Amino acid sequence: MAEQPIIKLRDGNMMPQLGLGVWQASIEEARHAILEALKVGYRSIDTAAVYKNEEAVGQALQETDVPREDIFITTKLWNDAQQNAQQALETSLKKLQLEQVDLYLMHWPCPEKDRYVDAWKQMIALQQQGLIKSIGVCNFHESHLKRLIDETGVTPVVNQIELHPMLQQRTLHAWNALHQIQTESWSPLAQGGEGVFDQEIIRHLAKKYGKTPAQIVIRWHLDSGLVVIPKSVTPARIQENFQVFDFRLDKAEISEITKLDSGKRLGPDPETFNG
Ligand SMILES: NC(=O)c1ccc[n+]([C@@H]2O[C@H](COP(=O)([O-])OP(=O)(O)OC[C@H]3O[C@@H](n4cnc5c(N)ncnc54)[C@H](OP(=O)(O)O)[C@@H]3O)[C@@H](O)[C@H]2O)c1
Repeated sequence: MAEQPIIKLRDGNMMPQLGLGVWQASIEEARHAILEALKVGYRSIDTAAVYKNEEAVGQALQETDVPREDIFITTKLWNDAQQNAQQALETSLKKLQLEQVDLYLMHWPCPEKDRYVDAWKQMIALQQQGLIKSIGVCNFHESHLKRLIDETGVTPVVNQIELHPMLQQRTLHAWNALHQIQTESWSPLAQGGEGVFDQEIIRHLAKKYGKTPAQIVIRWHLDSGLVVIPKSVTPARIQENFQVFDFRLDKAEISEITKLDSGKRLGPDPETFNG
């Protein structure tokens, strides 16, 4: 099988293009899933303080033979901690049993609270202290990103947003790219919904390449230049979702999938979510 692709972020740090998401997994489920993923070859794990399973990452890192420096760990600053990022990060690091996290993401802008620029300044300081390698955001729109850049001069390296064939966010993806901000897709499989896997073009391509619908969707993310973090706690699916490096979609096939965009969100709208 071909090597897994690695992306160079705008700060020079390297991030695997395919990782494992662990939202909605218990600590025990996440620990098993991470160990399985590391065995299969995944080298990137996406957790968050609010998922309440950062401990699983810490435990799995203790148990695995894969060296720490080969694994890219992402965690996130939850909304209620935007005023005290240092304390939130220290709590996360303790649970992760780490000295430094590879990527720390602000989880939501929460525009009504208007604290995200201040939180970003705190994250910059924490990076300077060496507690974080790379800093980025999730769920930021162009206006939120512009404020961060204008008011601090520091551009996030990653913007993790809801992105799947039904919600492709092409304008935001292009704006991110223009500013060398790597777009990362959350809910990349549209949460496993039949809505995506049942689409005729996805089924057709699955048949053509001898792959599953999930593998076609993951390949579409990779071939669109996106970082992708499908979640699964099922060993067979964890393996399946990683067996995507031996084929590619061509331009015409990518364009066909582009037609599935309906703008339908599964999660909250960042303009109005202030939770
Ligand atoms: N930044 C944010 O605001 C944000 C928000 C949401 C998610 N995220 C991140 O993005 C990650 C992925 O998103 P997500 O968990 O919402 O959804 P997802 O990855 O799109 O889908 C996960 C669902 O699909 C199922 N699944 C996985 N592989 C499959 C396969 N090969 N065939 C059929 N079903 C499959 C999983 O089931 P099983 O687990 O039962 O196998 C699970 O129910 C999260 O885990 C989290 O790390 C970030």
